[in-house]
Amino acid sequence: MTIQWFPGHMTRAKRQIQDKLKLIDIAIELLDARVPLSSRNPMVDEILGGKPRLIVLNKSDLADPKITEQWIAYFKYEGHEVISVDSSTGTRVSEIPVMARHILREKIERQLSKGINPRAVRGLIVGIPNVGKSTLINRLAGRNIAITGDRPGVTKGQQWIKVGTEMELLDTPGILWPKFEDMLVGYRLAMTGAIKEQVLNIEDIAFFAVRDLADRYWPALKERFELDKPPADLEDADEIVRLMEEIGRRRGCLLGGGRVDLEKTSGIILRELRAGKLGRITYETPYPAETRSGEPNGERSRE
Ligand code: G4P
Repeated sequence: MTIQWFPGHMTRAKRQIQDKLKLIDIAIELLDARVPLSSRNPMVDEILGGKPRLIVLNKSDLADPKITEQWIAYFKYEGHEVISVDSSTGTRVSEIPVMARHILREKIERQLSKGINPRAVRGLIVGIPNVGKSTLINRLAGRNIAITGDRPGVTKGQQWIKVGTEMELLDTPGILWPKFEDMLVGYRLAMTGAIKEQVLNIEDIAFFAVRDLADRYWPALKERFELDKPPADLEDADEIVRLMEEIGRRRGCLLGGGRVDLEKTSGIILRELRAGKLGRITYETPYPAETRSGEPNGERSRE
């Protein structure tokens, strides 16, 4: 579900999370490993304050493993504890409670030294819509729980979900908004499917995706759609459209008179991209590089 965020919603969402923070020991900040910055709330540091935090890069099964390692190094350099997981299969998810206890070890040791038996660590998962909060909660809980998440401003009774014997999670995650002001963020989130086509034009999203893939993942794009040669000039919009038309022809997306149905073609490109059919792809890298259009996190590694 795509939430229409208005200033009032944001204020309410922020307040709701801050109310929940009072109940917990640690926040689990969930990001999409393919777009760790674009899937990050711009005010997350302010919202979480000094609360201990574990950053979890989710959907790592869809992300480029080399770049995920770079992101892990980046967040560690920023002073965070971080782990990459795949909540859909559960890969590495069981390490989350272990890491949470590790982050809180001083507090736990203090309690033990006073003869207090520490209670289960209490956590809250926070993240933007579609990043996988409910999937992760279900994984951690080890059974399926119905969660009605994406409704900022809706108050519900809080319940704790047991994660093994040493951790408890609030059943409703904290829902944050992404950084809308930045067009690039919008397109990257749309490429992952976190923002739906109703919000941005589907052909624009596919155009952006094809240009980015031709630049950074040409072999994957070429192989998937049996393309001929890469565009000579990525700045030339006609060349990108030519590539999209080539893809459309390969997939039989034709209108009368031999014209290519670009809308249908765009749907196919995005569906296959989001499903991981082009391989494991990451849309932003932590290392600033000289880039095509002043992108803050672009990478130029056309093989
Ligand atoms: P949310 O609560 O943060 O809003 O996200 P949710 O768990 O609903 O997950 C959003 C989509 O992402 C779901 O797909 C879910 O299966 C998928 N997902 C979550 N974690 C992972 C992961 O680690 N790897 C992969 N590959 N997918 C993951 P969906 O039900 O198909 O929803 P949609 O694609 O129709 O939006």
